Amino acid sequence: MKIFSGESNRPLAQKIAKELKTSLSDIEIHVFPDEEKRIRILANVAGQDCIVIQSTSMNSDKNYMELFFITDALKRSGANSITAVIPYLGYQRQDHVFRPGEAVSLEVIIETLEAVGINRIIAFDLHSARIAGSFHIETIELSALSLFARRIVENGWNDGNTVLVSPDMGGRRRIKAVSEMLDDMPYVLIEKNRDLSTGKVTAQAIQGKVLPRAIIIDDMISSGKTIATAVKLLKKNGAKEVFVFATHPVFSRDSKYILQQSGAKKIFVTDTINIPQNKRFRKLEILSVAQKTAEELKKVIGY
Ligand code: R5P
Repeated sequence: MKIFSGESNRPLAQKIAKELKTSLSDIEIHVFPDEEKRIRILANVAGQDCIVIQSTSMNSDKNYMELFFITDALKRSGANSITAVIPYLGYQRQDHVFRPGEAVSLEVIIETLEAVGINRIIAFDLHSARIAGSFHIETIELSALSLFARRIVENGWNDGNTVLVSPDMGGRRRIKAVSEMLDDMPYVLIEKNRDLSTGKVTAQAIQGKVLPRAIIIDDMISSGKTIATAVKLLKKNGAKEVFVFATHPVFSRDSKYILQQSGAKKIFVTDTINIPQNKRFRKLEILSVAQKTAEELKKVIGY
């Protein structure tokens, strides 16, 4: 078995390799002045089961292209199989037509991932239940939710004063799963609306009873507007302190300031996406998905 990393999330790739008691194999990624890339595999991969770790977060297009080229180079070098660990699957929110005339970007991405010769995909917390089933190759969805439940217990927040919160109705499946992991901890659902033209987020109502400690669970934070709006509404409805757990720190644009200034006490995310120093902020804590990923790789590759 050989493990390679693209450039999007080397820190996670290194941690996964360490968990597997190995190191990353050599690859040369040359960037031309016009930003095109030349990929060259330097390790001997003939007959080997290969793993490529690449998060397809910002800049998604660039990171996807790199993954496609690494896959092609591995195939041409005689790899036996290619497992792509895509901790954050970019374009997953565009999984159907929201308004007439739109592209279904995720479908194009899936077709390309399959066409370049990837045999298996491993990804974390997909945006909707139907995404894994849209692939024709083996697709394994791992989840950070158990890491969140464990941290909630470690922090003693399972003391009867806590309510779990889904910041939108689409998160019902997720919030129910966490509630079950925590002996049916109560949960509430927020009725959120996002204007698709302006991006403006509004939250009208909460279904259920808010308790003094509220813990928001979400799959990703991008602009931070969903979290900021949810925290405000929860506080208005009686929450004294609000914590946030989200798997993917997409952290676009001004999210750092929006999140730091939100009334949330602490924001937990994972390392499915590498967060550069300039996007980090005081309230942020990062949990690692490396061990979970390595355990799954041991199972599927038989390492
Ligand atoms: C929405 O359906 C997702 O689960 C997230 O709540 C959303 O993508 C977060 O986006 P933002 O941080 O831009 O509000």
